[in-house]
Amino acid sequence: MTALEKIGSQPSHLGGGVALYDWDYLVQDDRAHRLIYTDPAIFEAEMINIFGGTWTYLAHESEIPHENDFITRRMGLRPLIVVRDGAGKIRALYNRCTHRGTTLCRWDKGNTKSFQCPYHGWNFVNTGKLRGVPWPEGYAEDMRDPKYNIAQVPRVESYRGFIFGTLNIDALALAEHLGAIAPMIDQWLDRNPGGKVVVCEANRFRFKGNWKLAYDNSCDGYHVAYSHRSLLETENRFAGENAKGMAYYRNSPDTQPMYMRYTGHGNHFKDKRPNLEKRPGGLWALEAAHPGMEHYEAQFIRRYGERAFELLDLAGSEPVNINVFPNFSLLGNHIQVFEPVSVGETNAIWYGTMVVDDGRLGDAVTDVNALRMRTQEGFPNFGEVDDIANFEQIQRGLMAAEDEWVYMHRGLGIADRIKQHEDGTITAPATDEAFMREHLKEWKRLMRARPNLAIQREP
Ligand code: FES
Ligand SMILES: [Fe+2]
Repeated sequence: MTALEKIGSQPSHLGGGVALYDWDYLVQDDRAHRLIYTDPAIFEAEMINIFGGTWTYLAHESEIPHENDFITRRMGLRPLIVVRDGAGKIRALYNRCTHRGTTLCRWDKGNTKSFQCPYHGWNFVNTGKLRGVPWPEGYAEDMRDPKYNIAQVPRVESYRGFIFGTLNIDALALAEHLGAIAPMIDQWLDRNPGGKVVVCEANRFRFKGNWKLAYDNSCDGYHVAYSHRSLLETENRFAGENAKGMAYYRNSPDTQPMYMRYTGHGNHFKDKRPNLEKRPGGLWALEAAHPGMEHYEAQFIRRYGERAFELLDLAGSEPVNINVFPNFSLLGNHIQVFEPVSVGETNAIWYGTMVVDDGRLGDAVTDVNALRMRTQEGFPNFGEVDDIANFEQIQRGLMAAEDEWVYMHRGLGIADRIKQHEDGTITAPATDEAFMREHLKEWKRLMRARPNLAIQREP
C-alpha cells in the first residue's frame, strides 16, 4: 500500500485565508456576491477545496492509448503528467521535480518510460519512483527514501474513457459521484457505433474572466437568442422560420420541447432532443445542415444512397449539453474543459472527437469523421466567441465594487415551474437559472468543507 500524505489538516496555510468568510452571505438563494468571481483569496481556496476536494476531469483514455503514453494536464493550478505506466495503470503524477520543484516534463504529450528533470538530471520512472540522481556519492543519505518519489493524485478513476482525479480520499467513487448524469454520458457515447470516441486535437481559447462564469453559462438557455443572434441568423438564412439548430430559442424557449435537469453534485444537463424528428437524418437536419453544408449532404447521398442520413446523423452534433462540475462539459460532439489560470483568467478548451468503427461503418468512417470535424468547427468558432465576450465583460462589470450582487433567480418562486423528482433530480424550463443556483450550493458546500485531502508517492 502506497503511503498517503495528508494535506488537508493544516487550516492555517491551505485556504486558511478564507476561514472566516461567511459563505451563506456570499451565495444566497437568489443571488451571489461579486467577490466569488473577483477575490484572489477565494480563488486560492477553490484550487484546494474545489479542484482538489471534488472530482476534476483530467483527460480521455484515447489520448494515452498505449503503455508509457503520457499527456500533460492541469488539476486547478497543479501541473500534472497523466501517464499510462509500463503495467498499463493510469496515474496522474505531479509535473514537479522533488529536488527543487521545476516542471519535469515540458512536452505536451509523448511516450516514455522515464522522465529526466531538465535542471539537474534526476531521473524518474513513469510510476513516479526516483530511478537515480547524477553523482549520488554527493549525498550523505539514502536517496531511495520514498519522499523523493514524485507526488501523485491519490485517486484517479475513469468512467467510460473519461479520466477524473481527486485529492479527496473520502470522495464517493466516481460512478457514484456522477450518479444520474452517468446515463446521459452513456447515451452520448452509445449513439455512436461501438459506443466509443477518440479525442482529437483541440480548439483552445483563453479569456479574461473567472472560471465559474463559463460553468454558470454551461446550462444557460436564457442568453442564446441574444448572445448568439448572428449565429442563429447565419444558420437560418436560407432555412425559413424556426428551422435550424438553436432557432428554437428565438420564440418563448420555455414552451419548446426541451428542459434542463440538475442531477446533484453540481452536475446538470440541458436536453434539446425532444425537438428532434425521430427519423434517419432528423438530427442532421436540425443541428448540422447549415448553409455551406449542402454539398457535403449531396456527396453523402451520392456515395451512400439509403444509408446517407443515418451516417449524416453521426456527424451531426448531439443536442444535449452535459456538465460535470467543476470543469467538464459534453457539448455537441465536443469535450469542453475549463482550466482556471488565475482569479480573472481561464482556458476554455474544446476537444474534438472521432467515432470509432465497430465494423458497421466500413469505409464510411473516414467521411463521417471528416464531416464531424467540419460541424465541430461551427460552434467553437462562431458561438464560443460570443460567450467569451460575455465572460470578459462580466469580469469587467464586476470590478465595480459597490454594486455587489449577481442575480440568478429566474424561475425561483413561481409555483409548479421547477419540479423536484423522487430520485432527487430537479427539472426546469430551459431558460431558468435553477441549474446555477444548484451548482453554487454545491460550490458553497465544498468551500465550507474541511476535505480529507492527500497526495501519494510510490513506496
Ligand atoms: S530540480 Fe529537478 S533535478 Fe534539480
Ligand atoms: Fe452560449
